[in-house]
Amino acid sequence: MARWAVLPLLACFLSGASSATIAPKVFIISMFSSEAAVWSGIPEFNVYAQNITVPGFSPLFPTAHCTGDGSVCLLTTGQAEINAASTISSLLHAQTFNLTYTYFLVAGIAGVSPKVATIASVTFARYAVQVALQYEIDAREMPANFATGYFPEGSTAPGQLPGVGWWDGTEVFEVNDDLRRLAFGFASTATLNDTADAQAARALYANSTSFTAGASPPSVVLCDTATSDVFWTGNLLGTAFENTTRVFTNGGAEYCTSQQEDNATLNALLRGALFGLVDFARIIVMRSGSDFDRPYPGQTVLDNLLGPTPGWNSALMNLHLAGVKVVEGIVNEWESKFARGVKASNYIGDVFGSLGGSPDFGPTTQTSA
Ligand SMILES: *[C@@H]1O[C@H](CO)[C@@H](O)[C@H](O)[C@H]1NC(C)=O
Ligand SMILES: *[C@@H]1O[C@H](CO)[C@@H](O)[C@H](O)[C@H]1NC(C)=O
Ligand SMILES: *[C@@H]1O[C@H](CO)[C@@H](O)[C@H](O)[C@H]1NC(C)=O
Ligand SMILES: *[C@@H]1O[C@H](CO)[C@@H](O)[C@H](O)[C@H]1NC(C)=O
Ligand SMILES: *[C@@H]1O[C@H](CO)[C@@H](O)[C@H](O)[C@H]1NC(C)=O
Ligand SMILES: *[C@@H]1O[C@H](CO)[C@@H](O)[C@H](O)[C@H]1NC(C)=O
Repeated sequence: MARWAVLPLLACFLSGASSATIAPKVFIISMFSSEAAVWSGIPEFNVYAQNITVPGFSPLFPTAHCTGDGSVCLLTTGQAEINAASTISSLLHAQTFNLTYTYFLVAGIAGVSPKVATIASVTFARYAVQVALQYEIDAREMPANFATGYFPEGSTAPGQLPGVGWWDGTEVFEVNDDLRRLAFGFASTATLNDTADAQAARALYANSTSFTAGASPPSVVLCDTATSDVFWTGNLLGTAFENTTRVFTNGGAEYCTSQQEDNATLNALLRGALFGLVDFARIIVMRSGSDFDRPYPGQTVLDNLLGPTPGWNSALMNLHLAGVKVVEGIVNEWESKFARGVKASNYIGDVFGSLGGSPDFGPTTQTSA
């Protein structure tokens, strides 16, 4: 008995960690080192005042970082879905943190569709769709009547929903739209960074009437995000995944950004929410555009993928410039508003209705695979 009581204290002492539980108001989630770096040396707060080792974090990013008072924290998941899911799951079970009332701000860069937004824009998603969780036939071998080699599991052609019994529950996540609109309002007070190089890159999209948004100056935009481990590019895959995003959400989502983690992060948070470890209504998915997901007219797809990324620096800077307004908005109005939460007027959660309510996407009844 005594041994068990003493061991955790001893472990605490040996690791030098404080035994006090940290209950952050906002936890910023970055995916790789450049995204984390934008929160270093900023005037608003010092999120590196406490470094906390969390068992289960990536060996590349083993510690969470917090301000001295613990109100704002930051972690880096590591890139792609497996790292995101593993890191967030580990966070949920870390004894150091009480995340019951914490807001999570996913703050990362992404590919951006010139149909909806542009490089250096900052977007806030309501839906995250896992577009690559599908069958794939190499396009060179696909049936002549297919427009893409991707089609949902349990379906027979592109454009269909996954078959009954084939849904894994991670295909679509919907987050709190009321909170999203508050975050959009906070972020809209920021002056976004832009550069001459990014402006020149955007101008090349002015040639297509479909790409009016891509050719316009950066702004804060409400539009949805797609997750895939594969870093894809091009008009055909772009259109295919726009279609997938629309079909999986019954037309509710408008695809605009492409990234490699968000559904995994959301899946881990949803599992935590099922056991009261986090509140799924307190999640904000913010992605800024670092590169276009498809070429400008006359550019090859390969050049678009491998060429320079003139939006990169501004996209990273804008994560801080817009994101810090969201963090401050939540912290400053903590007592008056955010501590008690923002009621979602839309459905939130997964296709199974795991958190209660009826999803406004997917088939009307659902069973797991
Ligand atoms: C936390 O780690 C960062 C580097 O990641 C370092 O600059 C900082 O000094 C550390 N803070 C403490 C309190 O050790
Ligand atoms: C976490 O904090 C909340 C609010 O203070 C409290 O009700 C809850 O008991 C805490 N959970 C744990 C595991 O300490
Ligand atoms: C991924 O998460 C987004 C919410 O950010 C949700 O809209 C989308 O439906 C999710 N996709 C899958 C396949 O889970
Ligand atoms: C964007 O950031 C770069 C690098 O710090 C700076 O040179 C440039 O003036 C900034 N542009 C705007 C519009 O803030
Ligand atoms: C996307 O959907 C539209 C409308 O259903 C269809 O005409 C088009 O062929 C699809 N494109 C791809 C690449 O899936
Ligand atoms: C517009 O696009 C066409 C190809 O679709 C290309 O030949 C032409 O050079 C482009 N014009 C400009 C100004 O980029």
